Amino acid sequence: MIGMFDSGLGGLSVWRELARQLPHESVIYLADRAWCPYGPRSHAEIEARSTRIVEWLLAQGATSIVIACNTATSAAAAQLRRHYPGLPIIGMEPAIKPAALASRSGHIAVLATRATLSGEKLQRLAAHYHEHVQITFLPGDGFVEQVEAGELDSPKTRDTVKQALLGLAGSNADQIVLGCTHYPFLAPLLSCAWPQAELIDPAGAVCRRIQQQLESHHLASPPGQVASYRFVSTAEHEGMQDFIARVLGMKAEVEPLQLA
Ligand code: DGL
Repeated sequence: MIGMFDSGLGGLSVWRELARQLPHESVIYLADRAWCPYGPRSHAEIEARSTRIVEWLLAQGATSIVIACNTATSAAAAQLRRHYPGLPIIGMEPAIKPAALASRSGHIAVLATRATLSGEKLQRLAAHYHEHVQITFLPGDGFVEQVEAGELDSPKTRDTVKQALLGLAGSNADQIVLGCTHYPFLAPLLSCAWPQAELIDPAGAVCRRIQQQLESHHLASPPGQVASYRFVSTAEHEGMQDFIARVLGMKAEVEPLQLA
């Protein structure tokens, strides 16, 4: 069973892709809504919290971990891998490379939380591609909160999205990397606010990596196995149930969890 987590509902954009690509794999998904958003927290705090969550997922029977959160990947993946050698831990990768390769204008944007944008991992990756393309970094302030509130198309969300893209005004950016797993849920608004760009969601590539890792660790479920899904939330769970029904078109029980 795959243990997947995010600060909240964002990682469901990865869960959705995983259920599509690997329909035989069972998943337990933990939304750490009590601690959401992770973006403004320190790396040390996110690292400690991620370790606590992974401990809990392993106790539930998870045999691999997917960090369906760019912020937690950037703050905690390296430490988690050191802490659990041999455990497949797959994190999010900002899709700068595919965006740089696809760009015709030579200008791309990376939209992510402030914690991810200031992280060493992203800065290193960006430094590598800076020679080839111009990269504008855009903090998606308020995006996570709007998605958590289930407001995927309210006037306030539209305004929040417009504000964030002001940094691109007058530019010819033609690719926007979605560097936070909450953001694919705002794709229609992003496309409306900046129609000239293609949005790059790394979920598909991440799921292909999950498959490779499961296969190389002999953890892949046989075809024909019926997947089971569990959803857990460390805070208010009814909103999450509604979100899953409305956005993923699925009826699911969300289990409340108190994780100290
Ligand atoms: N989904 C998380 C990410 O990918 C959101 C982080 C947050 O809670 O601020 O970065």
